[in-house]
Amino acid sequence: MNEFEEIRDQMLGRTYHRIVTVDSLPSPTFHMEGRQVVSFSTNNYLGLATSERLIDAARRGLERYGVGNCESRLLGGNLEIYEHLEAKLAALKQKESAVLFATGFLTNMGVLTALVSLSKIARIYGYRPRQHYKYVYFSDEFNHISIREGIRMSGASRVSYRHCDMANLEEKLRACGADMKIIVSDGVFSQDGDILPLPDMLQLADKYDALVYIDDAHATGILGDHGGGTTDYFNLNSPRLICMGTLSKAYGAIGGFVATEKYLADMLRYACSAYGFTSTLPPDQAMAVSEAMDAVVDEPWRRDRLWENQRRLLAGFDGLGCQVTCRDTCILPVLVGDEAMCERHAAKLGECGFHVDSVVFPAVPRGAARLRFMANTNHTPEQIQAFIDAMGQLRGAGRNRCQQA
Ligand SMILES: Cc1ncc(COP(=O)(O)O)c(C=O)c1O
Repeated sequence: MNEFEEIRDQMLGRTYHRIVTVDSLPSPTFHMEGRQVVSFSTNNYLGLATSERLIDAARRGLERYGVGNCESRLLGGNLEIYEHLEAKLAALKQKESAVLFATGFLTNMGVLTALVSLSKIARIYGYRPRQHYKYVYFSDEFNHISIREGIRMSGASRVSYRHCDMANLEEKLRACGADMKIIVSDGVFSQDGDILPLPDMLQLADKYDALVYIDDAHATGILGDHGGGTTDYFNLNSPRLICMGTLSKAYGAIGGFVATEKYLADMLRYACSAYGFTSTLPPDQAMAVSEAMDAVVDEPWRRDRLWENQRRLLAGFDGLGCQVTCRDTCILPVLVGDEAMCERHAAKLGECGFHVDSVVFPAVPRGAARLRFMANTNHTPEQIQAFIDAMGQLRGAGRNRCQQA
């Protein structure tokens, strides 16, 4: 056995999570390992990924452009559909400009790395910075792993603050003498479902002269009157804000973006290797996203039904006495704690015909494993009732072993 095989065996021996094979997309019904199941954990919140409307748009994209663009946008790959989509995303986030990336993960990795090296990179183009700047990231302890990885790769200092705790953030901002402070946070926390306290955070940013970078993966297309995300939800904007989002959740496709002031977007196109030295999302996906953005606006029933179903699910959980740790968004986590037990609960629900995410380390800290339930536009009242009944049985069977699930 070579060393890699040994490490692999030790890793697999320590993880409880099993990767399952699926042969259709959750809409929210799908096929998993030969069985039909209903997902209560899909990011396809609005059912758009599997809608005829998006499939038609993607088909038009395929027919018009082909399968991929095979070029960086800095070279011959700058299709007009990307510029069109960037203009729509910038308008949605009420920002001057937006920059597209192949995925949300890559957006965080690329932008967080580039932001702290803009002046270094600008030197390559002959710019002489006025001074050497010291950058510090202030990161919520529960931020998504792509943010944590982006900050790590940037090489900048990272100060972690307690989850959504603005007093703790202020203490850390006050104590920091950096030239450039950048606060980074999920907008809707991916594993916890709560919404960042943006008004208070922006006040701190003004007071301590910081930028605020928000990852709105789970809010874009969902929160706010126009589906603009957390800024739309709080009806707030500021030149200090850098708004990041993914296209792989409510919008049902793939890709990521940042929406910013124009000067920053212009710089990122040259400074960010994750933009300039890789291919972007395929053009049919850009066509589908553009259609999804229209659908969010002109099919308001999708969001209305999503929230109706969220309330129905919550009422069911309340009836069972389940402790849902956050009730603000369509992500409804139930803390289990023990990883093996969490996996067993998810497997039991799977046997009853329901797919649920068991979220374990490293997505969340050890000992904080949880079942992550997500509401969906296309759940029927009957599906929700059947699911709540299955949860009731699981709870009854496991009452002595696990009070939480
Ligand atoms: C908060 C958050 N940021 C970023 C990402 C990465 O997005 P993508 O899947 O588009 O790469 C995710 C996906 O799970 C996420 O939940």
